[in-house]
Amino acid sequence: MTSAPAIYPSLAGKTVLITGGAEGIGAAAVERFTYQGSQVLFLDINKDSAQSTIDNVFSICSKVGARSNIEVKKPIFHYCDLSNLDEVKATITAILGEWGKVDILINNAAATGQGARLKTEDVTSESWDFLVNTNLRHVFFLTQAVLPAMKAAGSGSIVNLGSITWRIPAPDSPVYAACKAAIMGLTRVQSKEAGAANIRINSVMPGAIATQRQRDDVLTPEYRAEVMRGQSLQRDLLPEEVAKVIVFLASDEASGVTGSTYTVDGGWCSDP
Ligand SMILES: NC(=O)c1ccc[n+]([C@@H]2O[C@H](COP(=O)([O-])OP(=O)(O)OC[C@H]3O[C@@H](n4cnc5c(N)ncnc54)[C@H](O)[C@@H]3O)[C@@H](O)[C@H]2O)c1
Repeated sequence: MTSAPAIYPSLAGKTVLITGGAEGIGAAAVERFTYQGSQVLFLDINKDSAQSTIDNVFSICSKVGARSNIEVKKPIFHYCDLSNLDEVKATITAILGEWGKVDILINNAAATGQGARLKTEDVTSESWDFLVNTNLRHVFFLTQAVLPAMKAAGSGSIVNLGSITWRIPAPDSPVYAACKAAIMGLTRVQSKEAGAANIRINSVMPGAIATQRQRDDVLTPEYRAEVMRGQSLQRDLLPEEVAKVIVFLASDEASGVTGSTYTVDGGWCSDP
């Protein structure tokens, strides 16, 4: 956390489920919700990163929380390969059995490294299935799984992570881009279905965010120069800058916002 975050009292004590919370934007969201006094549960396949995220987040938030009288709850990690639908269903069944309902769902996980960058001519049926299952299928089925308890409670908030990839449009990752465009469609349609039960569903479209994986795999000097030609802001964007918007959309401060897409891209593409 580079600055003291805004406090959203509506998030204290809320059960927040975040996919892909071990690293990158997901880890920044784990930190931001923990700081609010939410009980964060997160799903991931990287056990080592998950443990260091829990240790870092709990240590930072406990210190800051003590100064702000926020009761900080240690984040809880569940190992779950989101590309495996049986694992997704077993994990969410266990979570709902233990917690009764999830108040807030952040559908964040995706395959973001070089492996997601396959040109049309290089896509096989196996890589198509892998990319769709890692980037899109779990978003639908996790939302489907949490909605009944949210409907029974008469409240809930879901934030889906899209991308500006399809909007720029960026070449060389057509399947990833199709999944991210679909997430915007899901957001709009499911927000209509869920609105009568006072459940809000929004999405966030990040631009080039300097996560560790992007720094290691993608952000070459040439690519950074391309990003700077696209962005109005002439600096790297940080994972926490996306997490701030996710937390706002999940909170009651965004109580009238649903079916919307917020772009966090430093001005690369101006509207959705
Ligand atoms: N970083 C960017 O520049 C950028 C740009 C546009 C959109 N996004 C979107 O933001 C979201 C977060 O991206 P990020 O850059 O923080 O990613 P990241 O690669 O840094 O982190 C992704 C997390 O998801 C986990 N994960 C990956 N596959 C998984 C699986 N099968 N099961 C469970 N966990 C899995 C990883 O272990 C990791 O902890 C994604 O939806 C991504 O598409 C990111």
